[in-house]
Amino acid sequence: MPKVILHVDGTIVEQEVDKNANLVVLAGIKEFPKLKFGCGMGKCTRCTCRVINGAEGLDPPNWKEKNMLGDKLQEGYRLTCQLYIQQDVEISQENIKIKPPKKRKTTIARVN
Ligand code: FES
Repeated sequence: MPKVILHVDGTIVEQEVDKNANLVVLAGIKEFPKLKFGCGMGKCTRCTCRVINGAEGLDPPNWKEKNMLGDKLQEGYRLTCQLYIQQDVEISQENIKIKPPKKRKTTIARVN
C-alpha cells in the first residue's frame, strides 16, 4: 500500500492508503484526518497541496487543476481532491494561500 506523508498545521501525518485512494474522500469519511478540503470537486482550491516527493507517481494535472492552479502547477502545487494515490507521496498544506480565479461574467446579448 502506498504511504502518504502530509505536512499540515505544524504536524506530520504518515498513513498508508489503498492504492488508487483519493485523500479527500478518505478525509470525508474520517479515515484521513487533518487534510484541508472543501468542495471535493476541483472548484474551491481549499485542498491545494504542494508535492514535496513522489510527484512522478501522480497522474498529470487534469483540466480542473489547470483551470484553478494555472502557473502554480509548475511550482508543484496540486489539488488533492483530484489525486489518486498510486505510489508513496509526500505533500504539504502548510502556508498555502491560493484562491480560485475570479469567474468571468458572461453576457448574453439578444440579437433581433
Ligand atoms: S476540495 Fe475543493 S478544489 Fe479540492
